[in-house]
Amino acid sequence: MKVLVIGGTGNISRGIVAALQNQNHEVTLFNRGKHPDPPTSDIRVIHGDRHQYTDFEDKMHSETFDAVIDMISFNEEDAASALRAFRYRIEHFVQCSTVMTYGPPFSGINLDEEAPLNGQSKYGLGKIAADKLLLEAYRKDGFPVTIFKPSYTYGPGMDVQRQVGGNNSWIDRLRQNKPILSAGDGLNYFQFLSSHDAGVGFQSALGRSKCFGEVYNIPHPKPRTWDQWHHAVAEALDVEAQIIHVPQDILIAIAPENFGGLSMNFGHTQIFSSTKITKDIPEFQPKQNLVQSLKENIAWMDKHGRVNRSCNDDLEDRIISAIKTLPKLFENNEKTLVNNN
Ligand SMILES: NC(=O)c1ccc[n+]([C@@H]2O[C@H](COP(=O)([O-])OP(=O)(O)OC[C@H]3O[C@@H](n4cnc5c(N)ncnc54)[C@H](OP(=O)(O)O)[C@@H]3O)[C@@H](O)[C@H]2O)c1
Repeated sequence: MKVLVIGGTGNISRGIVAALQNQNHEVTLFNRGKHPDPPTSDIRVIHGDRHQYTDFEDKMHSETFDAVIDMISFNEEDAASALRAFRYRIEHFVQCSTVMTYGPPFSGINLDEEAPLNGQSKYGLGKIAADKLLLEAYRKDGFPVTIFKPSYTYGPGMDVQRQVGGNNSWIDRLRQNKPILSAGDGLNYFQFLSSHDAGVGFQSALGRSKCFGEVYNIPHPKPRTWDQWHHAVAEALDVEAQIIHVPQDILIAIAPENFGGLSMNFGHTQIFSSTKITKDIPEFQPKQNLVQSLKENIAWMDKHGRVNRSCNDDLEDRIISAIKTLPKLFENNEKTLVNNN
């Protein structure tokens, strides 16, 4: 198939491009040419800004594609522009949405695609509006859209994240055998999908008419705790992780600008069902080795100078040192209370 990827050099989209090339599709990208990793020279790139709607649509009207995968659609206006560009002109349109359309707060765990929509952030609300418009076009006149909702997807093109957020100095802290922070008891579950595996899922949907008008969660089927993730990152770096658990409320209170993400989805267990996608798109069988994939992701960060040096940021050391002295303070307080009585 002649496939256009809007985006194509980022994290998930480079996994998609690799999967498309593996299946010998003819791939074209549309992006601004700003991303630090250009695609390989055999891939045609149309340069432009997707949010300059008139220019984008004019460029698209002079092209012909069988399928389009839209990685850069964040609101109703983006989706409306995609409809003007591609309606009645393509065989399949894939919209990249997000599980953040379900929350937080999420109504439960193992949420499937029937879960109530509850986007609270501008991001989640925008994706809900974009998805709605595209599904209406499917219902109205059969616009052949499929909506994918990834959960956390990692890989080259994006920094390896950790639960408490902050900057990327945590990778350097691990390398220097310094302790790292983890929120709460570290037992919140998340789903960590490699962009290679995500790419196979997106690619395998193409041309499948049973996927038209359908929404699919695309998470890793096996949830892991954040501490399992932190230990896997340490293993990828060939070090042991020393993890210091700190209640998330304390972290948010100390430095909301660093740890504020904990009050959104990163502070909660977040598990989504992959039953529907594995049934309808059986090729989606995540099989990338976690530690190997993390090595690849960290190598990308190193190549692009994205690992901050931990010696330039002492906040984490100060928090860890304060947390370690807390039991002593409590002990002293207790004695004082006992003495007073
Ligand atoms: N990673 C996750 O955990 C996750 C989870 C859920 C959903 N998602 C969704 O995944 C999508 C992101 O995909 P990704 O990971 O491939 O993207 P990404 O890593 O953010 O890369 C963005 C890609 O789009 C291009 N681009 C950005 N702005 C553009 C614009 N205005 N016009 C044209 N091209 C533009 C970039 O190239 P240039 O900069 O050169 O233009 C690059 O190719 C988003 O829709 C996001 O909501 C991601």
